[in-house]
Amino acid sequence: MTQDDMTLCQIKMTQDDMTLCQIKMTQDDMTLCQIKMTQDDMTLCQIKMTQDDMTLCQIKVTQDDMTLCQIKMTQDDMTLCQIKMNLIRLENAVAVITGGASGLGRATVERFIKQGAKVVLCDLPTSTGHDVAKSLGENCVFSPTDVTSESDVTAALEIAKSKFGRLDVAVSCAGVGVAIKTYNFTKKRPHALESFTHVIKTNTIGTFNVIRLAAGMMGENEPNVDGQRGVIVNTASVAAYDGQQGQAAYAASKGAIVGMTLPIARDLSDKGIRVCTIAPGLFDTPLLASLPEKVRKFLASTVPFPQRLGNPDEFAHLCQMIVENPMLNGEVIRLDGAIRMMP
Ligand SMILES: NC(=O)c1ccc[n+]([C@@H]2O[C@H](COP(=O)([O-])OP(=O)(O)OC[C@H]3O[C@@H](n4cnc5c(N)ncnc54)[C@H](O)[C@@H]3O)[C@@H](O)[C@H]2O)c1
Repeated sequence: MTQDDMTLCQIKMTQDDMTLCQIKMTQDDMTLCQIKMTQDDMTLCQIKMTQDDMTLCQIKVTQDDMTLCQIKMTQDDMTLCQIKMNLIRLENAVAVITGGASGLGRATVERFIKQGAKVVLCDLPTSTGHDVAKSLGENCVFSPTDVTSESDVTAALEIAKSKFGRLDVAVSCAGVGVAIKTYNFTKKRPHALESFTHVIKTNTIGTFNVIRLAAGMMGENEPNVDGQRGVIVNTASVAAYDGQQGQAAYAASKGAIVGMTLPIARDLSDKGIRVCTIAPGLFDTPLLASLPEKVRKFLASTVPFPQRLGNPDEFAHLCQMIVENPMLNGEVIRLDGAIRMMP
């Protein structure tokens, strides 16, 4: 194409969200081109043709966070092509979120729904998952799930597929904790092995159960232009690094999640499935909400900055960032206001 010819192409947005648009070319020989943002405010970007004789045309994009995408011809006659994002955007993404009835999981479900995702909310049958999902409308479905059960998790994933067509994202927030010292010298009683096993089973094995089954379903996805098929986000804790007294079981369960993040990311890399883990500090979830105000204030004062408990939506926001940023992979991210827990 010559430069003049480029002015003859038309760009027509087909969706309000501007993630998909059509370019109608008047030329026969256009095959592949890229859209690259040229301004910080992301309101304007350029299309650069990859063919030598093609030069530049402009497209106006209204979304804030669009960075790089490709235009690929979808028809042999080259009269029509589509813009395909090289990110998985939350809008229209299908996610399974465990522990979604409460706290960090619930905030993540709510944010994802608000951003236009479709969510299968997984939590125990005894949880408020049904009511939470109902309050969020038809893009949210509750699946009663014990994350340690293969059949429960498989059923939840099947709901994602049958109701929403596929699975793009799996976020594990289901978790439990206990506060028991390794040995109680006053009562001459060792840490109950069942409690230790319960925490490891729910937090570590439950998380791995979700990952291994979700990865299988994500592997069936058509890859995007980056080769990406899905994103997995796990929840560890700063206790993985600074476990306190009474946290042997909890810290071990979260340390295991930290430890498996990189090898799983490596295992799934050839299918284009990314894996990241968030290690939260102190967040204002129902667990902490039940503590006396004095204790909550004290806990908040131990956070260097910002000197407060984390808002669950700040956790959900990082989940969104991980899903949308294709270079985040195999990493554990502390989200903790620089807190280092005391012994
Ligand atoms: N709140 C914090 O300050 C904090 C800090 C660090 C890490 N975390 C981690 O974040 C995650 C969420 O914590 P939260 O504070 O939101 O807790 P929460 O108790 O409010 O929510 C946890 C949810 O997990 C569900 N759950 C428990 N066992 C389950 C199972 N076997 N199968 C399915 N669902 C199950 C519960 O029903 C509950 O709805 C946990 O893994 C927790 O360890 C929380």
